[in-house]
Formats: sequence, structure tokens, C-alpha cells
Amino acid sequence: MKNTWSSLLFISLLSCSVDGESQSGLIEKQILTKESKPLECGLYLAPSTIPGAGLGLFVGHQAWEEGTKAGYGDICIPIVNPHLHRNYSKPFFHPLGDYTWSHIDVGMTLEAYPALHLEAFCPGIDALVNSHQFVLNLGSPNKSHVAQYLPAGIFRTSPNAGAVSPYRNSTTRVSRRIPPGGELFKSYGPTWFPSRAKALGDSFAFPEDFRRGQALLNRMAPLVDRISSTVSVSPLFTDLFDIVQAVTGTFQSRILKTLPREPQHAHDAGDDESGLLRFHEDMSRHSLEYLTSYGQCVDHVRPVPLSPKHPEAGQGAVAARDLPQGTIVSTSPLHVFPDLDYFNMYVLKQNDKGTWERESDHVHTKQLLLNYCFGHPNTTMTLCPYGPGVNYINHDRNPNVRIRWSLNPWHNATAVAERTVENSFDFQLKLAFDYVALRNISEGEEILLDYGDAWETAWQEHKRTYQPIDGKIIQPDYVYNHQLHIPLRTRSEQEFDPYPEHLHTRCHVALLQPTYRQSQYNWLETPESPLLVNYGLPCHVLQRYASEMDPSEYAYTVELDLEILSDEHKADLSIPKNDLVLERHQVPRRGVAQFTRPNLSDMHLSNTFRHSIGLPDSVLPLQWKNAI
Ligand SMILES: *[C@@H]1O[C@H](CO)[C@@H](O)[C@H](O)[C@H]1NC(C)=O
Ligand SMILES: *[C@@H]1O[C@H](CO)[C@@H](O)[C@H](O)[C@H]1NC(C)=O
Ligand SMILES: *[C@@H]1O[C@H](CO)[C@@H](O)[C@H](O)[C@H]1NC(C)=O
Ligand SMILES: *[C@@H]1O[C@H](CO)[C@@H](O)[C@H](O)[C@H]1NC(C)=O
Ligand SMILES: *[C@@H]1O[C@H](CO)[C@@H](O)[C@H](O)[C@H]1NC(C)=O
Ligand SMILES: *[C@@H]1O[C@H](CO)[C@@H](O)[C@H](O)[C@H]1NC(C)=O
Ligand SMILES: *[C@@H]1O[C@H](CO)[C@@H](O)[C@H](O)[C@H]1NC(C)=O
Repeated sequence: MKNTWSSLLFISLLSCSVDGESQSGLIEKQILTKESKPLECGLYLAPSTIPGAGLGLFVGHQAWEEGTKAGYGDICIPIVNPHLHRNYSKPFFHPLGDYTWSHIDVGMTLEAYPALHLEAFCPGIDALVNSHQFVLNLGSPNKSHVAQYLPAGIFRTSPNAGAVSPYRNSTTRVSRRIPPGGELFKSYGPTWFPSRAKALGDSFAFPEDFRRGQALLNRMAPLVDRISSTVSVSPLFTDLFDIVQAVTGTFQSRILKTLPREPQHAHDAGDDESGLLRFHEDMSRHSLEYLTSYGQCVDHVRPVPLSPKHPEAGQGAVAARDLPQGTIVSTSPLHVFPDLDYFNMYVLKQNDKGTWERESDHVHTKQLLLNYCFGHPNTTMTLCPYGPGVNYINHDRNPNVRIRWSLNPWHNATAVAERTVENSFDFQLKLAFDYVALRNISEGEEILLDYGDAWETAWQEHKRTYQPIDGKIIQPDYVYNHQLHIPLRTRSEQEFDPYPEHLHTRCHVALLQPTYRQSQYNWLETPESPLLVNYGLPCHVLQRYASEMDPSEYAYTVELDLEILSDEHKADLSIPKNDLVLERHQVPRRGVAQFTRPNLSDMHLSNTFRHSIGLPDSVLPLQWKNAI
């Protein structure tokens, strides 16, 4: 996750109160669902087991096994330098705050210059999942995402070109079995908690504290067992705890913070090397009864690569199971953008000093995110939902779901009634929509929402006036990088069979090392999820031949372009200062990757469709109408 301070808001945002006015929503919800037995559910949204952490995600009736994919796959939307497009004007309100990942973390290409603030918003599991310092069950600390994107496959002749994100189906693997009712925890990366150590306070425990806590329990348990064959464990352990606490300072110690408070639990956690982990895992579960009463199912909506009813739109969402009329098909918390300016994108340029700025005030296009948000012509308020599946729901004038303000207790109905646009520049609004089934929906049937009159009019107008720039399919770079079996074309082959002009070829920096072959660089960094920083060298493929190491594979001669290297860097690598290129032989396929050139992918076209989804009149609060 991004490294900004507002992230603690992430923890307190939507912190659930099952009290006061929100209680009534809960009761209403229970009445609504009382009649029928609860539907099956594989994933719930419910209050986190971490105190003060707001909402969390929980596995339903069936455990998620290690190594399987977590959920159905999220969409990721590039968020291109919003602050820079505002020409760094202040104040700048960025509702997504810490809900975005760096584009590198999610395997997204360098969509635009400059790279510094290129972010990825993945409004499914990735936007809702919490992190835990000890119990992690999704991704791995160093590589939290496994990007397995699928292209939309939309031609530029289609009015849909550039209107949907090419980053779909991004999945994380389950790294540790999650039992029924277990909370999902994903690493925010190795630096996330440490970089916040000061803000989190002295009593906040780090992974290292948990390891020491485990060691302490392992030492204490046998000691207690030895002297307690006749007495019960509890008083002894309590005494020992008291001594430890007296010595280390009561509740001052981060290590003590990790230990079970119940003597028997503490004793059991000392039985082996992973007792403490098991203890915390147990603490990170809700019962299925709790989840059906206080949680909301968020896996009734399953994304599919091709919309059954609107294949021209690309992806779609279908019902994962039979959903009777009135079912809350999903609930999505909302990011609130009071100001439409956030979405404007301009042509940028680098000034004489090398800093980026807005070239003119002509709006070139809008952030792709707008197409995934709700808006209304009579207000500047824009609401962007985040919840698994909901961003795949297509438009149809004959819908089978509608949205309403959520009846869940974590939606703040008072805020809807009282807040104006001007005082909604606030991360803590805690608003949510329910998607409600208008009729019985059968398993596999497409979930469809009416995007409203304003959207329909804008779309018809766009279709009528759309002038394709060309008829190409612009395949994202990951498509080429996944095809490791397809030989790379040499420079002379490319003269008559060029790669599409939006691509450029880069080589792995390991090729700079004089010993790159002998050291048998293991090429773990595969081009399937290349990091721009490692595949940072522009290069050309000159020749292709059977590899010396494995004659059934091709190897390549490549020419590395050294222009980006400084003189010092060259000296370190024993490369003469005046050399501009370097040839390398026997380079494996994995040494080379393709990258989409910044701002040449479809979403940067100037004539792409951008329009928010219609907020129904019935949902729009009176006092939000600031744009009539
Ligand atoms: C993760 O990264 C750290 C340093 O950032 C490194 O020390 C550690 O070995 C890495 N772990 C794995 C499993 O790659
Ligand atoms: C995601 O990828 C899997 C294969 O890995 C595929 O079965 C599934 O249909 C894809 N989902 C979408 C929405 O494209
Ligand atoms: C695309 O990037 C180039 C820099 O390589 C920049 O000059 C140009 O203005 C960008 N286009 C837009 C639309 O921002
Ligand atoms: C953007 O900001 C820079 C520096 O503050 C300023 O010189 C430039 O005129 C601004 N451009 C526009 C189009 O507002
Ligand atoms: C709900 O919103 C109202 C009005 O903005 C605010 O006073 C109240 O504290 C909020 N409640 C919660 C639980 O956040
Ligand atoms: C909807 O499904 C319920 C059972 O789940 C059934 O009783 C009802 O008749 C169905 N309604 C329609 C209009 O098919
Ligand atoms: C929006 O504004 C238009 C024009 O003033 C008006 O006719 C319409 O009734 C308004 N819609 C709502 C929901 O207020």
C-alpha cells in the first residue's frame, strides 16, 4: 500500500457501530431475511476482529485452502497522477488515500509519465482486506499480488475502446489455509507497519514481538508442567505472568501484548512452535451465525470474462447462485468525491527544470475511474463503490438489481440526511450501497443495473459520433510477456513484421553484469510479471538461435542501450565511458520483456467514453443538488 499517513483512517474508516441509529438498519435487515434460510456464502463483509479496524472480509462455510486463488479476481484501475493533473494545487483531497497500491505492486505497466504517483485502485478484495502483523493468509510479504490479468480484447473500432480497465482478474493466492469464518489478512508489504511505528504507539506489537512471545511461552510451558502435575495450571501460570509483567512493566511491553490473557490459552500456545499463531488465528474468526447476522455476503456476484448479454462491453457479472427477489446481492462501501475536478486529466509537460506541470487548461480526458463511479447531473458528488464483483455489473434498461442506501449498520444514514457537498471533504463518511435483486435471479444469469437516463443518452451520443482513430486491438504488454513460448522477433524480422508501436522492448539489468552467464542468474523475475525497475534497459533483439544451455530453447543476442547509465554506473560495471551500446549473447527469453509505452494504451485516447453511472433520483439527497 501507499506510504501515506492517512492510512490509519483506513483502519478507523467504517469502524462499525452496532448501536444507535444503525441498529435499526440491522433489525430491518434481519426482518427482511427472516423468512428464508440464509443463502450459502463463500465470503462475508463484517466488522473486523481487529479492534477499531472497521470492516473486514471473512471466509464463509468452506475453508480456503493454501495455494488456491482468493476470490474471483479483482479489477484494477490505474489512477494517473491526480494531484499533478490538478497542477499540484492545494488543498488536494484524495479520497482513495491508502486504498491504492503502487502500480508496481500490482504488476501494472508504466501507464503514463511521471511514474511517481501512478497508483492502482483494485476495488474488490484488495480494497477491503485488512492486514495483521502476525496472521497473514493472503499473498506473501514481498510479493502480495500475483497479477494474472486478462485483456478486454476490444478493438479501437469499438466505441468501448479505452472505456474499461485492461487490468482485470488480478488475483492473490491463499498463503495459509483460512478456516470457515476466518478473517482475510494480506501483507501491505514489509515496510508498512515499521514505517508507522511511531504513530502506532509503544504498545503496538511487530512480527518480531510475536516471535519473542512464542519463545517466552515455549520456555514457560514445560516449566509449569514440571511443577504442576498435581496442581492446576492456571494459578501457576498467572503467577508467572505476574512476575514477567512486574519485571517488564505492566502493559508496556510489546511482547506481552502478543500473549493470550487466559492462563490456559497461554499454556496451550506454549506447546509447540506455532501455538501462538494458532491462538491468534482463532481470535481472528467469527462464527458463521455471527456472519449471517452481522455480515453481508459479498460473493453472490461472480465476474465473467465476457458479458452474456452485452459482449461488446467485454466483461460482466453473473449470479453465483440462485438469488431470490429482495436478496441483497452485494453491499459496497463508497469513496466519496465531492468535487468532479478530481477526474480531469490534462496534457502534461516537463518544464525547463524537469518538473512536470499542466500544459494547458484543456481537459484532454478523464480518469478511467469515473466509469466505475456513481454520479448525477444535478450534483458534483461522485461515489465510487468498492466491493468484490460490483464493478463488473453492466448496464441494461431492463435491470434485475437496483441500488439503495445500505441497510447495514456500517452505512451512516445520518450523514446522507445531513451532509452537504461542501462538508463532505471527509474520509470518514461511511456510506454504502446495497444492490438488491428486483426479481428472482438464477445462477449464471447476468446481473444488470440500469445506469439511468443521463448515462444512456451520453452513451448513445458517444456511439453515434465515435470516430475510431484506428482499427487495431491494442493488447496490453502482459499478453506478450505471458507468451514465453513464442520466439522474440529480431530487429531485421521486425522490419517487415513489426511489434505494435505502443510496445517497446526492455532487458533485465542483470545483463549488465559481466558475469551474467557464468553466475547463472536464476531469472526468478520472470517477464510474466516484470518490474519496470529490473527490466529497465531499452534493448533490441539482434539474433535468435538454439540455446547452449538447452538446445530445445531459443537464446538471443541483444543490444543493450546504455544511454540511461551514468558515467559512474558504467565505471562500476567496467564499461568504457564512451560505449553507447553493449552486446550480450546467449540471453534467455526471460531476460527480455515488452512494455506498453506511457500514455499510448487505449485508456489515454482522447475520444474514449467517460461517464459516471446514474445515481437514481430517489437516492440523491436534496441538499446535494449543487449543480442544477
Ligand atoms: C523479502 O524481502 C526481504 C528484504 O526486503 C528479504 O530479506 C527476504 O529474504 C525476502 N523474503 C523472501 C521470501 O523473498
Ligand atoms: C479469471 O481467470 C480465470 C482463469 O485463471 C478464469 O477462469 C476466469 O473466468 C477469469 N475471470 C474473469 C472475470 O475474467
Ligand atoms: C504523454 O507523454 C509525453 C511524455 O513522454 C508527454 O509529452 C505528453 O504530453 C503525454 N500526453 C498526455 C496526453 O499527457
Ligand atoms: C501549473 O503550475 C505551474 C507551477 O506552479 C505554473 O507555472 C503553470 O502556469 C501552471 N499551469 C497551468 C495550466 O495552470
Ligand atoms: C454519521 O454522520 C453524522 C453526520 O455527519 C455524524 O455526526 C455521526 O458521527 C456519524 N456517525 C458515525 C457512526 O460515524
Ligand atoms: C421466486 O422464487 C421463490 C422461491 O425462491 C418462489 O416461491 C417464487 O414463486 C418465485 N417468483 C417468481 C416470480 O418466479
Ligand atoms: C435536476 O435538474 C433538472 C433541471 O433543473 C430538473 O428538471 C430535475 O427535476 C432535477 N432532478 C432532480 C432529481 O432533482
